[in-house]
Amino acid sequence: MAKFYVNPNIKRGKINKEIYGHFSEHLGRCIYEGLYVGEDSNIPNTNGMRNDVVEALKEMKLPVLRWPGGCFADEYHWKDGIGPKETRKKMINTHWGGVVEDNSFGTHEFMELCDQLGCEVYVNGNVGSGTVQEMSEWVEYMTFSGVSPMADLRAKNGHEKPWKLKYFGVGNESWGCGGNMTPEHYANEFRRYATFVRHYPNPDEPDLPRVQKIACGPNVGDYHWTEGVMKTAGWIADGLSLHYYTVPFTWEKKGSSTDFDDKTWYLTLKKTLLMEELINNHLAIMDHYDRSRKTKLIIDEWGTWYDVEPGTNPGFLYQQNTMRDALVAGINLNIFNKHCNRIEMANIAQLVNVLQAVILTEGEKMVLTPTYHVFNMYKNHQDAQLIESYIETEKIGLEDKNMVPNLLESCSINENGVVTATITNLSITDAYDIEGVFTDSSIKSVKATILTNEMHAHNTFDAPETVKPVEFTDYKITDKGVNFKIPACSVLELEIEMN
Ligand code: AHR
Repeated sequence: MAKFYVNPNIKRGKINKEIYGHFSEHLGRCIYEGLYVGEDSNIPNTNGMRNDVVEALKEMKLPVLRWPGGCFADEYHWKDGIGPKETRKKMINTHWGGVVEDNSFGTHEFMELCDQLGCEVYVNGNVGSGTVQEMSEWVEYMTFSGVSPMADLRAKNGHEKPWKLKYFGVGNESWGCGGNMTPEHYANEFRRYATFVRHYPNPDEPDLPRVQKIACGPNVGDYHWTEGVMKTAGWIADGLSLHYYTVPFTWEKKGSSTDFDDKTWYLTLKKTLLMEELINNHLAIMDHYDRSRKTKLIIDEWGTWYDVEPGTNPGFLYQQNTMRDALVAGINLNIFNKHCNRIEMANIAQLVNVLQAVILTEGEKMVLTPTYHVFNMYKNHQDAQLIESYIETEKIGLEDKNMVPNLLESCSINENGVVTATITNLSITDAYDIEGVFTDSSIKSVKATILTNEMHAHNTFDAPETVKPVEFTDYKITDKGVNFKIPACSVLELEIEMN
């Protein structure tokens, strides 16, 4: 029996709700079709936003949404997306399929979406092909409450009051699609652009914190980038982003989302676990240049990236989502929870119909993916306190180079004293008996949910409920805590009420 130690009395910091954040880009069918269908659509909508999708995302407690990209952000000119729709400029989305972008979803529509979702706003600005003035005016347009050219323009376009903008990204992947810059060059650009990302106090909301400025951080293990940016611009950045995708094989041949063997299962999970090493190493560099630990780590792109579904537009990055994705999500979220003292936000890529999406749509049909269910099962961690926990593990796998721990966990306690434990079982064959040992505390009741199935299992438009969470009852409350048996290939959530 593996021991699972939990100490509800030792708190390790708040799990910021934004760790459960998402990302929406003008890419494929994420915005158009996935989120926004327009007011005249036959698909039930409110001000153009799909009602079914909005409802599902609210249920999952989506806390923050990043927009408009991604690579798209550095070719997006926000003024093209405001004012009467019939006069909005059409452009080519050069990064993603070369399709025509008609700009019918712009700043007002994004803010409307966030309003319907009740989530925080994360807008990513354009450094690569935009100007300082353009970026500065966008922030003025969104947040200034007094009399000014941009505030007046916003009012003329139908929104008198400013919006709440919590996070602002200054460029995206500036080492690549955002301008192919060196870290030193970007750091200087960041200093210049960020200076004009002004904070405009709002007399109606005097306690509103100033907008958090996020600097473009590294790609995977590019420590040279982190060093260069932190050295020159660390003092002015509230956050530094990190992008790391789980790609089973190579960028040229990433692998299928649904057709994979046992070895590829463990390879994929092994690659996912690299996240922990990246977090530790980048944080060590950040700490060196920022002794006060003011700059937070923002993992604003993560998730699986496979070959696109056969027969779909290669530029649209549409992929299916199996139990393997559920494990990838569960593992990453457990890792992020454990680092909540330095990770302020994370945004899985992407929300609907792109990469590791929580929702897939086809016309008026919608399915919730296994990844959705994991986010829904983990939602009690949002804004709860991480508590000390440790689980005994063993190495499992089929190849020496791709061995992984069999179990990963994290635990939190909320303001009502309810402990949430989330545990992932990475084995495709073995269930494990666990002895939960709770220090200096006794358990009153347990409510548990499990997501488990065969590793390839996924939801389709014809069979949308193949993978769905069910109540878990295979546990026993003991004098020491709670014992349970976690099935193979599963994500388990325990809600534990203490005496
Ligand atoms: O999420 C897809 C793309 O991946 C984003 O646009 C870019 O930032 C990253 O390379």
